[in-house]
Amino acid sequence: MLKKTVMASAFALTLVTAGTAGGALASTTPDDSAPAGSDAAAAPIEIPDLSDYTIGFAQVGAESGWRTANTQSIQDAAETAGVELLFTDAQGRQEAQVESIRGFIEQGVDLIAFSPIVETGWDAVLIEARDAGIPVILTDRAIDSEEEGLYETFLGSDFVREGEWAGDWVNEHFADADHVNVVELQGTTGSAPALDRAEGFRTVVTDEKFEIIASQTGEFTREGGKRVMEAFLQAHPEIDLVYAHNDDMGLGAIEAIEAAGLVPGEDIVIVTVDAVHDGMQALADGKINFIVECSPLLGPQLMDLAGRVLAGEEVPERVVTEERTFTQDEAIEALPDRQY
Ligand code: AHR
Repeated sequence: MLKKTVMASAFALTLVTAGTAGGALASTTPDDSAPAGSDAAAAPIEIPDLSDYTIGFAQVGAESGWRTANTQSIQDAAETAGVELLFTDAQGRQEAQVESIRGFIEQGVDLIAFSPIVETGWDAVLIEARDAGIPVILTDRAIDSEEEGLYETFLGSDFVREGEWAGDWVNEHFADADHVNVVELQGTTGSAPALDRAEGFRTVVTDEKFEIIASQTGEFTREGGKRVMEAFLQAHPEIDLVYAHNDDMGLGAIEAIEAAGLVPGEDIVIVTVDAVHDGMQALADGKINFIVECSPLLGPQLMDLAGRVLAGEEVPERVVTEERTFTQDEAIEALPDRQY
């Protein structure tokens, strides 16, 4: 083990002001109402000096603008903390992520953090980490397991709430409609955000006038969103709404819609999740109609939690990032200062 004993009080702290949403070490009990129109709190995060430690981080891949921003945030925060970061990219393959975690255990890192590609299938490797005495922090995505004590804390968004916020806007936007044909571009099959965003949306979009005529995974990628949307457009001549589980798939859908001679945002309403720069630009341009934010800026909070765990402090089991929603006007206002 590389672990060294450092008391919490011995940590030198670096203050980092995290940007829009995700900056604050937020509540463990999410508020259900979207703070639309107001910037979520951007409280400074105290990044501890972790220069005596090694952290292994197993990333999902580089499937989206969100993921790229998330990787950057983690690497930047690790540099500020002075921690040795062993970073791996599983390129969307769970087996590769499991192998990375095994590698971190063999190398005797002090702490392992990862964003689980899918929800299930982690018990064996996380039990190995626990047996080796290496604490684990989940970031961004949850796991589904009956086993207790596999990780210290889970830092990330409330994906169900994101789906509900998308659905709330849809209900309001189509309040006077008689019938709405909905197509859904789902995220990676079996992943927490795909499962939860589908669930949250369906929890609030309950009026029988809404018909989900097609739902398929676009793997959270722009190419996937485009390919699936092309197929949807061929199979269904009347599509009123695209609900895309992330901006990248929504941006791919825009390409398919334009190629079909239709006007995105007008002929077909588009609602997405993430609020990365390209998505926000499309919202500002009127090609996307509404975006629910999912903050990738988890790095400072991750280092803060890692410091506490390594100091033997109790940390909350769940840390939910602060997020908001964006209309077109709000996107235009927010774009100049957007960090990702
Ligand atoms: O887990 C977060 C999701 O993963 C983001 O919404 C999506 O863009 C990313 O690929």
